[in-house]
Formats: sequence, structure tokens, C-alpha cells
Amino acid sequence: MKLFNKVIISSVALSAFTFGTAVAAEVTEAANQKHANAVTQYRQAVFQLVRSNMGPLGGMAKGALPFDESVMKTNAVRLEQLADMMADYLAVDTRKFDVDTGAKDEIWADFPAFEKKVAALKTAAQGLKSAVEAGDESAYRGAIGKIGASCKSCHDDYKQD
Ligand code: HEC
Repeated sequence: MKLFNKVIISSVALSAFTFGTAVAAEVTEAANQKHANAVTQYRQAVFQLVRSNMGPLGGMAKGALPFDESVMKTNAVRLEQLADMMADYLAVDTRKFDVDTGAKDEIWADFPAFEKKVAALKTAAQGLKSAVEAGDESAYRGAIGKIGASCKSCHDDYKQD
């Protein structure tokens, strides 16, 4: 248990460091089954927040909801922040453990390639924020579409169905 706590504390410290300085996340291995289960839950929680922020945007792009600039800007900023967290939360390699996950092993075989997909989400989220700041309503649907495309592009390569 002591070892487990140390691992948690040191990974929190590492995350704070990489988050604060925007240094590429460094891959570490999960220390044991319990740690692997926990980090799997955390990364899935990040994606649940991603989904909750994308949901209304998808509805607006489809025309099911009216464009709401305040929601679009808030959610674009949150998606940008979640993209910043994503690489850190995915940087713990759980391949050696039996975890209930949709994450493919390829993530950790070439982590910098995975980080490019994270960067694509961040860029797309910034694109929506810029469109809202410019008040360019004709660009909203396309900007949301680019965010959706970044989800799909990563899922195609790195997520099991
Ligand atoms: C850089 C890659 C990447 C991007 C970008 C990405 N995802 Fe995912 N997503 C994953 C991976 C990998 C998993 C599987 C995580 C696991 O099960 O451990 C996942 C899982 C999920 C899940 C399931 C979470 C759970 O509780 O099991 C949802 C929902 C999801 N993503 C939605 C989205 C949406 C919406 C977007 C875009 C706004 C998005 N993702 C962008 C890689 C990505």
C-alpha cells in the first residue's frame, strides 16, 4: 500500500510538471494491477468529460439545437483543457495488466504518434473558440465538424469498438 501511494504521488507530481510546462508526456508503466485499474478509470473519466462537452456541440452542428455562442465557447475551452490532460492521463502504460479498457496497445508502442491525435483535438477546439470570438456563424458547423473528425481519427486508430 505504501508503494502504491508513492506511485500515485509521484505520478501526480509528474502530471503537474508536464501540464504546467507543456512538455510531452513521458510514458511510465502501471506499477501493479490496482494502479492499472485506477489509471484506466481516470482516463475513461477524461473521455466522459470530453463526451459531455461534445454532446451539445454535436447537437448544434446537426441543427437539433440552436447555436449558442456562450456554450460553444465554454465547451471549446474545456475541450482544449481536456486535450491538455489527455496525454498525461494516457501516459501510464497498462498493457501488462488485465484492465477493462477500449484503449489499444498501439497507444504505448508509439506514444508521440498518439500525441499528434491529441494535438489535432486541441487545434480543432481552438478553431471553434476562434470562430466564436470572430462571431463568424458561417464557420460554426465546420469548426464543430473538425472536432468530431479529430475524435473519429483517434478512435479509428487507438480505440477498440
Ligand atoms: C487522442 C485520441 C483520442 C481522441 C482525440 C478522442 N478519443 Fe475518445 N477515446 C480514446 C481512447 C483511447 C479511448 C478508450 C479509453 C479506455 O477505455 O481506456 C476513448 C474512449 C472514449 C469514450 C468512452 C469512455 C469510457 O467511459 O469508456 C468516449 C465516450 C469518447 N472516447 C468520446 C470521445 C469524443 C466525443 C472525442 C472528441 C471530442 C474523443 N473521444 C476524442 C481516444 C481518443
